[in-house]
Amino acid sequence: MSDTTTASAPAKLILCGEHAVVYGRPAIAVPLGDLRAGAAVAPGRPGAGLRLRAPDLGEEWAAATGEQNPLIALAEATAVTLGLPADLEITLRSQIPIASGMGSGAAIGTALVRALAAAAGRELSPAEVAARVYESERGYHGTPSGIDNTVVAYERAIWYARGHPPTIEPLKVGAPLTLVVGDTGVRSATRLPVGAVRERHAAEPERYEALFTAVGDLVTRARALLAAGEALALGPLLDENQALLEQIGVSSPELNRLVAAARGAGALGAKLSGAGWGGVMIALVAAEMAERVAAALKAAGAARVLTTQVPASI
Ligand code: PMV
Repeated sequence: MSDTTTASAPAKLILCGEHAVVYGRPAIAVPLGDLRAGAAVAPGRPGAGLRLRAPDLGEEWAAATGEQNPLIALAEATAVTLGLPADLEITLRSQIPIASGMGSGAAIGTALVRALAAAAGRELSPAEVAARVYESERGYHGTPSGIDNTVVAYERAIWYARGHPPTIEPLKVGAPLTLVVGDTGVRSATRLPVGAVRERHAAEPERYEALFTAVGDLVTRARALLAAGEALALGPLLDENQALLEQIGVSSPELNRLVAAARGAGALGAKLSGAGWGGVMIALVAAEMAERVAAALKAAGAARVLTTQVPASI
């Protein structure tokens, strides 16, 4: 290899089913193509080994120091499998806020694996990329369901259920969906709410299994409405999902405030998205209402707001 090779990967949003998906229920996730992470791979200084720089974060890691870092481990393992030289200089960039429920870790990992594959002149299948990134995600949050790395690697709307192997089905989206995303600005590491839910589930298994089953049921109904292009009917399911997430204990005052503001401004439905306790919420809106809902979210204190469309797909 002589030149620099680059690749990117999208952020993601969970439309419905987070947390319950860790316990085997299905969930629906969509890529967010406008917000991306990127990686550039270049030949390194001879003898320097593999070096990873994340200038946006002011971070730099070198494999040679023996420091344990999931991204270094992912880069090294992937480079070895692909037969790349040991001296590599990798630069990571990301537009995706970290710890916000938008899958920044999975996107960075996916961009990294794709850029290494490109450097080796190879193209890896989405399943191969997802499997590699999954291993690295485990370093961050222990028991990931696998939905983040999967939707990011496939880069399309998916139905996901955990298992050996997991069920991964590209979803039909009958009509484009407009989503307004409100960021609480509160950063919350995924493993914290995921760990709290694990403890609560262990303490009260029947109660939590019933909540997860209710989430799984609404995700199944959402799939049919999504395929039929019935956004109007999908809205109340997002509200139902939010009510269950509140009972599961992963919402927060900031999330509740933004969800209420979106509904008050005419959203069809709204809920937190991702692990909760902070991060982002999503509002499903009729396209002509997007600006109004975005303004209401800003007025209610959202740190940032973005509007995105999930395109129709067959
Ligand atoms: O915060 P995020 O985007 O990493 O969301 C994680 C989704 C959970 O269902 C809460 C955890 C998981 O591993 O699926």
